Amino acid sequence: MTVEKLRFGILGCGVIGPHHAKAIAGLQSAELVAVADVVPELAEELADEYGCAHFASLEEMFSGVDLDAVCVCTPSGIHAEGAITVLEAGKDVVIEKPVDITLRAADRLIEVQRATGRRVAVVSQHRFDAATQAVHEALTRGEFGRLTSGSAEVRWWRSQSYYDSGGWRGTWELDGGGVLINQAIHTIDLLQWLMGQVVEVTAHTGLLAHERIEVEDTAVAILKFTNGALGSIVATTAAYPGLTTRIAVHGDRGSAIIDNDELAYFHAAGERQEGEAYGAGGGENQAEEVMEQYGEGGAGPGAGADPGSLSMAHRDQIQDFVEAVSEGREPLVNLQEGRKPLAIIQGIYESARTGGPVRIEE
Ligand SMILES: NC(=O)c1ccc[n+]([C@@H]2O[C@H](COP(=O)([O-])OP(=O)(O)OC[C@H]3O[C@@H](n4cnc5c(N)ncnc54)[C@H](O)[C@@H]3O)[C@@H](O)[C@H]2O)c1
Repeated sequence: MTVEKLRFGILGCGVIGPHHAKAIAGLQSAELVAVADVVPELAEELADEYGCAHFASLEEMFSGVDLDAVCVCTPSGIHAEGAITVLEAGKDVVIEKPVDITLRAADRLIEVQRATGRRVAVVSQHRFDAATQAVHEALTRGEFGRLTSGSAEVRWWRSQSYYDSGGWRGTWELDGGGVLINQAIHTIDLLQWLMGQVVEVTAHTGLLAHERIEVEDTAVAILKFTNGALGSIVATTAAYPGLTTRIAVHGDRGSAIIDNDELAYFHAAGERQEGEAYGAGGGENQAEEVMEQYGEGGAGPGAGADPGSLSMAHRDQIQDFVEAVSEGREPLVNLQEGRKPLAIIQGIYESARTGGPVRIEE
């Protein structure tokens, strides 16, 4: 029996567009039909690699080929604009992170999605990492007890040549900010997915190690979650030579640490009455045991210094999107989910500007 494949187009063939092409090519249930970029050579080069059609715009791509869905891989500040055109053409959309750079654009997109009834996924590929899934499932089962604190750390390095590699990078107009909205958004999304909704932030941002960008390269924030837990974010692209990302979640019955997308530490008290048994030394690390139940996953080390070294987690997220379309359900990271890290980041920018705490509205 032949299974119908979801026919994809890709809009934007820069750094991330080719990762979407590779992810789609790795799926039985999807096929890459066309790619488009305003720089025709980029579209042609990618099309040659995957044997598909190439175009110079979304409109030309729609006139030239029959598509079911489009991956929007253009600069962040024009995500909603591209995605709305796709939705209004009656097709489904995968949008690269961030959903867009303002909550107004995200909300407009949500309205159009509701009106058209199409499916939209926002990329947050690390939600599909085995380590993240393992910790999320443990938290859903309540294994860590009452959540008390959580932290996200992104200690990366991006050279000036990285920012110079695209006119939009490091600009308010098209990147929408710096390390928070471009790099740390992944880790911030995981922190809020694991810990629950953030209700208040207090933050500082700085531009400390780059001269020719407009936006922050370093940020720190203090968070309050709805469930009463407290948290923190340290994010920088100014930590030479580029170190790890770390997410830590703690409760009164367990803790987990994800380092560079891998489960570095996990301990849940389980049935044992051990709440008072340990001091600073912590309990036995159950990470290996926990991960035996999950497959391989994660970008592994490298993403800290090199934005091109991405995992095939994109493939898992696009697979989820394809299944969502065929099963008529919401993808794991739909527009409402994709809006959450953006709302936190906008709150951080506002707090850094005003100097006071900022409430995050859902
Ligand atoms: N999920 C991840 O890990 C990840 C990694 C890198 C980038 N991204 C996101 O992907 C997006 C693109 O980033 P990038 O690093 O690939 O940028 P890039 O500059 O390398 O690529 C963007 C491409 O879009 C093209 N483009 C611009 N306007 C266009 C238009 N109107 N129509 C068609 N093509 C157009 C540009 O010519 C360029 O080739 C950003 O939003 C970024 O945040 C996500």
